[in-house]
Amino acid sequence: MQLSARLLRVLAILLVALPSRSAGHAANDAVGGGDDRPSPPCSPADRAALLGFKAGVAADTTGILATWAGGDCCGAWEGVTCDAATGRVVALQLEAPPPKDRHYMEGALSPSLGGLEFLEALVIRDMGRIGGAIPAALSRLTRLRALYLEGNMLAGAIPGSLGKLGSLQYLSLAGNRLEGQLPPELGAISGLEQINVARNRLSGAVPPSYKGLSRLAYLDLSNNLFSGAVPGFIGLFKNLALLDLSNNSFSGEIPASLCTLHSLTDLSLSHNKLGGQIPPQMGSLQSLNSLAMDGNMLVGSIPASLLGLQKLWYMNLSRNGITGALPEFTRGAGLNWLDISSNAIGGQIPSSISKLSSLERLDISRNRVRGVIPASMAEMVSLEWLDLSSNALVGRIPDNFTRLTSVRHASFRGNKLCGRIPQAKPFNLFRAAAYAHNLCLCGKPLPPCRKI
Ligand SMILES: *[C@@H]1O[C@H](CO)[C@@H](O)[C@H](O)[C@H]1NC(C)=O
Ligand SMILES: *[C@@H]1O[C@H](CO)[C@@H](O)[C@H](O)[C@H]1NC(C)=O
Ligand SMILES: *[C@@H]1O[C@H](CO)[C@@H](O)[C@H](O)[C@H]1NC(C)=O
Repeated sequence: MQLSARLLRVLAILLVALPSRSAGHAANDAVGGGDDRPSPPCSPADRAALLGFKAGVAADTTGILATWAGGDCCGAWEGVTCDAATGRVVALQLEAPPPKDRHYMEGALSPSLGGLEFLEALVIRDMGRIGGAIPAALSRLTRLRALYLEGNMLAGAIPGSLGKLGSLQYLSLAGNRLEGQLPPELGAISGLEQINVARNRLSGAVPPSYKGLSRLAYLDLSNNLFSGAVPGFIGLFKNLALLDLSNNSFSGEIPASLCTLHSLTDLSLSHNKLGGQIPPQMGSLQSLNSLAMDGNMLVGSIPASLLGLQKLWYMNLSRNGITGALPEFTRGAGLNWLDISSNAIGGQIPSSISKLSSLERLDISRNRVRGVIPASMAEMVSLEWLDLSSNALVGRIPDNFTRLTSVRHASFRGNKLCGRIPQAKPFNLFRAAAYAHNLCLCGKPLPPCRKI
């Protein structure tokens, strides 16, 4: 999701900034050692811990570990940052340079990393072939604020001993092969601001102990095998900006408590087994930018207040059992993408839909929408993608749709439409399939209309 990527980037910048207040003498060397005081050499204990890590890596195509030679690990060792005053390693940041599919480290994470006792940031990212378990010895890194081990091949369970990392703020283990349940012990790290365990094989329910993570701003559990209810206590995380639970097996109803998260910008509950109605109070999530609840078993109608959210630009409710009519679109002028396809929505398309003047992509396909296509839709000049297929629409495609010159894709297939297709670009250039299975549409790209 684009917005989560943006947030990740912000966090990455934060992370890069993190060790700089204790700028290592790697940085000092680069500017010719501006500081008069000689920096202490790197601590032998830290050097040994780093060499232990290096020994656990059987192959390295990134070239990083080739720079780890000589006695001073605070000197030219790539990815290593020391505190200039003490010579202790405070950050280890190893990332594969692009192209990422060609650069990797192969091996395992050595428990010796647990010996870097002054470490504040540990980043081993996108190394592709770093496998094996997350060493329990990492729990000795009690000064650690950021632990990013994403994009590797780490397997086994997340060690419960990580709960001893009392200073931890940012945790990402995304994109590995981790299994088992989330360790309840993490719930004790009250300063945690980010948890990202997306794209693993984790299962089970969210532990009740996570109720204590009241500082969380970012929680991404997507693309795993989690089950059970969406915990109501998530509503207590007042700083929460991103909640992504998509592509799991969460069941039950969407807790109304989520509707009190006034900092929430991105909410994705897509591809789960959630039932019940969309809580009407969701319209009070004033900060919401994107809302995805597609691929569940939600029923009831779309709360009108949702379409009034001023910052919302993306909404996907596709593939549910939503009924009722489309609400009058009253405000909500910011919406760019609206997908309500594959539900059981009835009623007519309200002519007020044209108030969604920023809409670029509108998908109403595979529903039970009746009545005519409102001519007011011709005012939606930002539309690029319009799918009204497989409904019960009647009448004509309004002639003034020829104003919709930005449309690149449209489908009117499978309705009961009749009359002349607007004879101008792009409507007369779409493939005939876009108009197939209607009552009596005619004109290009279909055969000419017959004079009555
Ligand atoms: C859902 O997650 C599984 C891993 O648990 C992954 O293999 C699959 O590709 C994901 N599906 C989607 C649509 O992202
Ligand atoms: C909405 O979700 C469905 C899958 O459930 C996906 O196929 C579709 O592309 C999404 N729509 C938009 C506009 O992103
Ligand atoms: C399209 O035509 C209808 C009436 O046929 C009119 O009410 C509407 O204002 C027109 N819209 C545009 C954008 O021309």
